[in-house]
Amino acid sequence: MEKYICVKELEDAASALLPKTARDYYRSGATDEYTLAENKRAFQRLRIRPKCLVGINKCDLGITVLGANITMPVGISPTAMQKMAHPDGELATARAAQAEGVIYTLSTISTSSIEEIAQAAPHATKWFQLYIYRDREVTRNLVLRAEKAGFKAIALTIDTPLFGLRRADVHNKFTLPNHLRLANFEGLLSTKINSTENGSGLNNYVNNLFDKTITWNDIRWIKSITNLPIIAKGVLRADDAVRAIEAGCSAILVSNHGARQLDGVPATIEALPEVVEAVKNYNVDVYLDGGVSTGTDVYKALALGAKMVFVGRPALWGLAVGGEAGVRRMLQIFRTELDYTFQIAGTPTVADITRDMVRHEALYSKL
Ligand code: LAC
Repeated sequence: MEKYICVKELEDAASALLPKTARDYYRSGATDEYTLAENKRAFQRLRIRPKCLVGINKCDLGITVLGANITMPVGISPTAMQKMAHPDGELATARAAQAEGVIYTLSTISTSSIEEIAQAAPHATKWFQLYIYRDREVTRNLVLRAEKAGFKAIALTIDTPLFGLRRADVHNKFTLPNHLRLANFEGLLSTKINSTENGSGLNNYVNNLFDKTITWNDIRWIKSITNLPIIAKGVLRADDAVRAIEAGCSAILVSNHGARQLDGVPATIEALPEVVEAVKNYNVDVYLDGGVSTGTDVYKALALGAKMVFVGRPALWGLAVGGEAGVRRMLQIFRTELDYTFQIAGTPTVADITRDMVRHEALYSKL
């Protein structure tokens, strides 16, 4: 895997390997994919302001998140149906996270089950991403199983009354390949995604099964059935961040769902400052995902107030290219790039990365 030295190289190699339907599904954003591009471009509009002659011998990338010690502020976001990328699927991703000491998040609609993941990566810090199904017993079971299996948090996706319009999936009539199952479910719930009378099979699945009527009150319901901390995943506005905390969430994940839900929403790095500002008087973490593909992207998010970031597609590219070893390689690339950034920017630990380390390019263009 050593020949890959940046995430873009893993992406290019994965794109050449993946079957078209899977590649399109993983890669796509909503409609015109303007936000998909902006998630990356917005990082490029920020400038890092290094401090010189700080006298750093060694950097420490480690942090503590929701009580867990992790080796760097980069974790793995949930992405669905990973066995489309590699036969080992989520098992490989979880094992890679364990080996690298980072947080792993399992999707509700995964092709390996909660229990299989717990067995494959017993020592990883594991979070479970939750969708609320109309059938509350189904939902309750997922939460209880995750808690029992040793998962440490519920990342509740709050931006998905339905899935966004991803044109390639509509054209491809996207379905889960017949040999795969949604492993957290039995019977029809595990295969229903395969029906494609009408465009994307995934969108049909979601329309039939997810509860569109959920409100902030439903977070109280989840809290009544579990002691795990709840992370609100998908916040893009200050007022929603405050609502999430008032409803009992322990952390906020600023996310636009990999730009897959609604085109034209802000890049996540653009939305981050208003969320950080809104929750500054509460004792909660703010995380970010969306468009993070280099160590300097991670650094910029930390400077603007994120406690850590998560990556989704980079893990899929690593997985497609080399299974567990490929995902590890992806994480090592981030670790190397971050280490260089910490040293050259003159900030030996995460705590040293203050707001003044980054400035928007517009502040330079006035010169
Ligand atoms: C998606 C869902 C699975 O974005 O989160 O496709």
